[in-house]
Amino acid sequence: MSKAATFLNSQVGRKLATGVTGLGLVLFMIVHLLGNLAYFAGPEALNTYSHTLHQLGPLLWVVRMGLLLFFVYHAWLGISIWLERRKARPDKYEVYASRGGASRQSWSSSSMILTGILLLLFVVTHLNTFAFHDFDKVVYGGVEMHDVHSRLSEVFAQPLYTVYYVVIMVLLGMHMRHGVWSAFQSLGWMSRKTNPVIYGIAFVLALIIAAGFIGLPLSIFFELV
Ligand code: HEM
Repeated sequence: MSKAATFLNSQVGRKLATGVTGLGLVLFMIVHLLGNLAYFAGPEALNTYSHTLHQLGPLLWVVRMGLLLFFVYHAWLGISIWLERRKARPDKYEVYASRGGASRQSWSSSSMILTGILLLLFVVTHLNTFAFHDFDKVVYGGVEMHDVHSRLSEVFAQPLYTVYYVVIMVLLGMHMRHGVWSAFQSLGWMSRKTNPVIYGIAFVLALIIAAGFIGLPLSIFFELV
């Protein structure tokens, strides 16, 4: 095995890779959120944005495959680290007790595995609802496009979908808040001095992204847009 592969298989290497892939996924969330905001500019703006993305052709597929790799690798790393940590625990009670008031650490990692798995399941249902949907077509300036706008309006007119998305976006916020500072920790950027700043950045980033994603379904459901 090469040195790089040995490092990536080590505990430190896997934690680092979880952080790096996680931060890559956060970048995707930001781009996706900004794209979703086009809904507020009206049907033509959103549908043209979506059409422009699809026009990227092979480049879009390269990005999609990269994204898929990041999602799967990140999830696999998270699950394997969690399983290993569980196996290494000689006695659950002892570990909780030795951490005293800070059984918080244990709660964080169990909530990460739970929110992570729910988010993974969400992505599958989400792709089915939107990305793989057979969209109605709309024509602007002689160019036929997918009517993504009407699909969003149709989906978030339904209470169940709206509640489902709001709940999942809250879980996404929780997962990201812990994930971002954990990633910074793996990168070695946490210290007594930088800790409060990094906790703050993680909290604000998670809040903005979760609230941003929640804003769209709620605005559609309550007919604010
Ligand atoms: C309220 C929140 C969200 C809304 C309204 C939303 C909406 C959409 C829509 C309309 C598409 C299809 C775009 C198109 O074909 O042009 C899409 C694609 C996608 N979404 Fe979301 N999304 C949301 C949150 C998320 C989250 C939290 C994730 C990841 C955890 C995510 C991951 C994806 C992925 C991977 C695609 C496929 C991209 C592609 O076609 O290459 N979305 N989303």
